[in-house]
Amino acid sequence: MVSLTGKVVTHEGIEGEREPQLEFAFDFAAKPRGLFITFEGGEGTGKSTQLRLLSEYLHDMKVNNLMTKEPGGTELGSELRKMLVTGDKDKFDAITECLLYYADRRIHLTTKVWKALNEGIWVLSDRFADSTVAYQYYGYDRKVSKETLDDLYKIAVGDFKPDLTIIFDLDPKIGLERSFKKSLGMEVKETRHESRGLEFHNNLREGFLEIARQNPERCVVLDADKSIEELHKDVVKVITERFDLAQCRK
Ligand code: TMP
Repeated sequence: MVSLTGKVVTHEGIEGEREPQLEFAFDFAAKPRGLFITFEGGEGTGKSTQLRLLSEYLHDMKVNNLMTKEPGGTELGSELRKMLVTGDKDKFDAITECLLYYADRRIHLTTKVWKALNEGIWVLSDRFADSTVAYQYYGYDRKVSKETLDDLYKIAVGDFKPDLTIIFDLDPKIGLERSFKKSLGMEVKETRHESRGLEFHNNLREGFLEIARQNPERCVVLDADKSIEELHKDVVKVITERFDLAQCRK
C-alpha cells in the first residue's frame, strides 16, 4: 500500500510559528504547483479507502502525491484529533470546537500542505474546511453562524482553497452502520460524532449537498452507494476529466 509517495515532507516548519504570519503565506504563483484535492462526506461513506486508491492510481501514473487528513494530519494535530473524535459528544461548546478544528487546519496547512504544494506535489486530504461547515453548522443546527465560520476561514486559511472537492454522498443509515462496525475493532473508539443520532447525520448529508450546490466549480458529488471498484472508477473519471495528468508527471 502506498501511504506517501513522492518527496517526504517534514514538520520542520513548526518551529517557525513564532515568525510573522507571512512566513507561511501560500505562494499562489509558484510553478510547478501541486493540486489540492479534498474528499468530503458523512460517516462511513468510504472516502478514506477511495483516497488511498486514488493515491495509488496517481502514483502509477507517475504523479507525486501526498495523502493526508483532518483532523490529525500532523504530529501536533494528532493530539487535537484525539480530543475531537473521542469521548463525550457535548464536551465542547460549538465555538470551542470550531477553534480546535481550525487550529488543527492551520497547523496542517503551514507545516505540511503548503510546503508540498509548493514543491509540485499533489495533496489529497481526507476532509478539510467543508467538514466544519457541514458538521459544525448544518449538522449542529446552526449553533455557530456562517459568518463566524467564514471569519475563521479567512484568518486561518486566507484565499487558499481546494482545486477540487469530491463529496461522497450516502444514506446515513448505511454509513453509520459501516462506521460502528469498523469501530468495533478499534482500541480507541473514534465515534464521538457518530453518536449524534440520525437527525444530525441527515442534516449533515443535506449540508454537504448544499455546499456542492453553492460551489459548483469546485465540488463534485458522487453516489457512494456502490462497490469500492465502481466508486474508484468514478473518482478516476472525475480526476482525468478535470486535469491533464501527463502535464503533472514527476
Ligand atoms: P474521520 O477520520 O472519520 O473523517 O473522522 C473525523 C471526524 O471529525 C468526523 O466525525 C468528522 C469530524 N470533523 C468535524 O466535525 N469537523 C471538521 O472540521 C473536521 C475536519 C472533521
